[in-house]
Amino acid sequence: MKILLTAVLGALMFAVFGSIFSELFSQKISWIGIAVGAVVFFAVWLIIPKSEREMEGGTSLTRGIEETKELFDNWASSYDQDLRNANGILEGYETSLKTASQVCTVSNGVQVLDIGIGTGKFAQLLEAQGAKISGIDLSESMIDECRKLHPGYDLQIGTFRQIPFADNAFDAVVSSFCFHEVPLEERQAACEEVYRVIRKGGMACLLDIMFASNAAVAEARKSMLGQWDDSEVYSLVGDLSEHLYSSGFHSVQWLQTGRLHWMCLAYK
Ligand SMILES: C[S@@+](CC[C@H](N)C(=O)[O-])C[C@H]1O[C@@H](n2cnc3c(N)ncnc32)[C@H](O)[C@@H]1O
Repeated sequence: MKILLTAVLGALMFAVFGSIFSELFSQKISWIGIAVGAVVFFAVWLIIPKSEREMEGGTSLTRGIEETKELFDNWASSYDQDLRNANGILEGYETSLKTASQVCTVSNGVQVLDIGIGTGKFAQLLEAQGAKISGIDLSESMIDECRKLHPGYDLQIGTFRQIPFADNAFDAVVSSFCFHEVPLEERQAACEEVYRVIRKGGMACLLDIMFASNAAVAEARKSMLGQWDDSEVYSLVGDLSEHLYSSGFHSVQWLQTGRLHWMCLAYK
């Protein structure tokens, strides 16, 4: 819509500047008017689609990996306390985790890897069903907190892009509220990395802040006013489905677990 508006605006600029210059000066100088129109048009072209992409969650994460690591290193000690009765984008956090753990049922003894395990909130719900938990996280302090709370977990530093485990090592890979930390241009590769470490017949379960459409993103952003974090880019369920199918997964299924949260199950 905005791109169409830009085109119309651009055509108007050409016409208006061209005719003003030809009225005021000579026919020859009207070319300068057309050139001015063209410059304004391209400036508008650059600006409008950029704000459109930012608003609708289409640009890459503006936070670098070091900044993300620092953010969670600093947050680790108060994370659990802060997420009690979470609001903003994480409103309904605990309900979403609970729903996801009920849908992502695991049987006794299955090997589960939690990516971006944080303090282990999601993993502990799966452990209660009998899963054996391994976890990776970008943040050393998060790993330390998790180790204090869950000394029995196998925990290591690692990321969605570099999972420090062998091919086919897990029955299931899960992740809660972490996938949006992966830059947009790396999300396909992240899904391929998840696929690599799941055994044939195993599954991935991804829970995150996600949206069904760009319109849903825009509406949520509007309703949140000051609480929306423009440095983060949340996936559209359709985009993540495409990444998962192109990575080799099949039977991708979706469930909305909260106002702003979705989960999917995908099978290898
Ligand atoms: C919002 S917290 C979620 C933690 C936990 N899964 C939960 O549901 O409470 C995001 C976690 O992902 C970690 N993280 C951020 N980017 C990551 C990445 N690219 N790969 C792995 N972990 C990452 C952060 O350090 C943090 O612990």
